[in-house]
Amino acid sequence: MPTQYNRIAVLLHWLSAILIFVLLFSGSQLLEPVPNSDPGKIGVLQGHATLGVLTGILVLVRLINLKMRGKPADASPAGTFRARAASIGHKLLYILVLAVVGSGMGIAQNIDLQAVIAGEAMLPEFFEHSGARGLHGILTKLLALTILGHIVAALHHQFVLKDGLLTRMRWKRMD
Ligand code: HEM
Ligand code: HEM
Repeated sequence: MPTQYNRIAVLLHWLSAILIFVLLFSGSQLLEPVPNSDPGKIGVLQGHATLGVLTGILVLVRLINLKMRGKPADASPAGTFRARAASIGHKLLYILVLAVVGSGMGIAQNIDLQAVIAGEAMLPEFFEHSGARGLHGILTKLLALTILGHIVAALHHQFVLKDGLLTRMRWKRMD
């Protein structure tokens, strides 16, 4: 069994982590507070949606990669609270990212974002009439909280338990 995540998994982990931080920031700071009547909003929305869909694709590739090439054994002994929390937490991260992407695509579908980007339609006054918008808002907050827990857990392993967990997600090979 490998002792580290393979390089494609490492690359995809860090690339999608960066994309998700950019998406959380752009969604909550550059989109949500700006009125839909602002002409600059469409460009930001286009970038947000494009990166969002790309992130969804990267996560799917990542899951296929791990299924095919396997991953290191659990970092914590089987049956312990930490092992269970890691397993649930990691599954939740995948589910939430995919659900956030899905609900984002739901909003795009509801407002015909393609026509808006092509200049053939206007943004609605509010997104709130789209049920997907409410869901996207809730899911992004749950995702941000889960990521926070994930980072705290990773730092706890690294600096309190001192088990070198971060080296498992590193480009450099240990063997
Ligand atoms: C948007 C942010 C992030 C997301 C969505 C994310 C997601 C994930 C997921 C789903 C896994 C499990 C891989 C698997 O076994 O299937 C994982 C592993 C890992 N992540 Fe992240 N991650 C993020 C950010 C970070 C950050 C900022 C750190 C460092 C502080 C980090 C450190 C790690 C480490 C060390 C592992 C390996 C854990 C292990 O070996 O059990 N991640 N990440
Ligand atoms: C991992 C992927 C994504 C993340 C992390 C993300 C994150 C966010 C966040 C944090 C918000 C603000 C929510 C709020 O404060 O209530 C937001 C809003 C939004 N997102 Fe996303 N998003 C993602 C993918 C997508 C995709 C794929 C689309 C469309 C195809 C999309 C379309 C939108 C729209 C239309 C809004 C509403 C902006 C507004 O209210 O003015 N998002 N997103």
